Amino acid sequence: MENVLVKCEKLDHFGRGLGHVSGKIIFVPNLLVGEEALVKIVLDKKKYMIGEIVCLNNKSEDRIKPKCPYENCGCAIKSLNYEKTLELKKEKVLEILKRYSGIENVIQEIVPSGNIYAYRNKITLKVKNGKIGYFKNGTNELIEIKRCEIASEKTNQIIKVLSQTDLCKAKEIIIKDFGEVMVIIKGDMNIDNLKPLVNSIYMNDVLIYGKENIITQLGDFKFYVSKDAFFQVNMDVALKLYNKVVEYLDNGESILDLYSGTGTISLFLSKYFDNVTGVEINKEAVRCANLNKSLNNVSNVRFICGDVSKNIHNLKAENIVVDPPRSGLTNGGISDILKINPKKLVYVSCDPMTLARDLKLLKDNYEVKEVTLFDMFPWTYHVESVCLLLRK
Ligand SMILES: C[S@@+](CC[C@H](N)C(=O)[O-])C[C@H]1O[C@@H](n2cnc3c(N)ncnc32)[C@H](O)[C@@H]1O
Repeated sequence: MENVLVKCEKLDHFGRGLGHVSGKIIFVPNLLVGEEALVKIVLDKKKYMIGEIVCLNNKSEDRIKPKCPYENCGCAIKSLNYEKTLELKKEKVLEILKRYSGIENVIQEIVPSGNIYAYRNKITLKVKNGKIGYFKNGTNELIEIKRCEIASEKTNQIIKVLSQTDLCKAKEIIIKDFGEVMVIIKGDMNIDNLKPLVNSIYMNDVLIYGKENIITQLGDFKFYVSKDAFFQVNMDVALKLYNKVVEYLDNGESILDLYSGTGTISLFLSKYFDNVTGVEINKEAVRCANLNKSLNNVSNVRFICGDVSKNIHNLKAENIVVDPPRSGLTNGGISDILKINPKKLVYVSCDPMTLARDLKLLKDNYEVKEVTLFDMFPWTYHVESVCLLLRK
């Protein structure tokens, strides 16, 4: 397709440069506001186009040289100055809340990540034809990598070892570095060179070396990290976020921790509430949550294994915290929360769109008092929100 000249007017919610060509919108990854570039059109749809930079005509003063040399990985905004990435994320949530829930003037601040590199405790590497890397966004085209700058130094040592290993029969390799290290392999490979670097290796769901679970420390608590259960990817920001949840809730008699995962928020809250009930659908996460309870000698927390949409209608609590997956709350879940009628509701969200949708349904009964944003995923367009709602 032909090349066109594009001037970037703003960044969209996915961190892509947005411009117009003959009145039609064009999205160009890695083009910053004010920059003009010669762009190759790679997709031409009825209402929009997607382009790739061929040649940048001028550079924004907010452009930095990213540490990572790879294009099209998950770090969509790695060429933007870090302070500006924080502003961008704040503006994005402001705009989404205003447009989709009619809520304004509630965002307090965006809390930066203590480490902007080497912050991720988990990465998923794809393997194709014996090479390791990431799949280019939305495709199964492999971008071979030698390092990942947002992963830990230990993870990068493991990547180096992997790149010197025959991976022809491997398909996917997950590395979890929580101080103790777990490697989860799909497919087959020789693990001898990995053993000195790690504490646990699974192959095709079977433990083949070391410990069943690894252990990590977050704040005053120790947590088991298992092969399958969710754990926040950035420890520094996770700790700041959990402390904010505690701060928003003060203390009290009873609290429900909905979508409780391995019980992290429940354990943080156990210091301030007489009784805490976590609800979580993933059996493995609940098993870990119970292990975490014993590991930390906590007795005022219980975990229910089940779907939030089906298990909370009989429960009572003065306070609720919810931390759902990207899809947000269900309509049934929202009506059950409204029936429980807590005084305070804290909503932890990893997707501002579903947060805005759910706040719109809650706002007749609850005042959205304030929202604090957390940069859990530096250099990506993702942002975590913690929202305090008070019963009207
Ligand atoms: C974003 S994670 C939060 C976990 C935990 N609060 C934490 O900070 O580690 C969302 C959790 O919701 C669980 N989940 C997803 N759908 C669910 C449902 N319908 N009912 C209960 N839990 C669910 C997932 O298994 C996952 O552990």
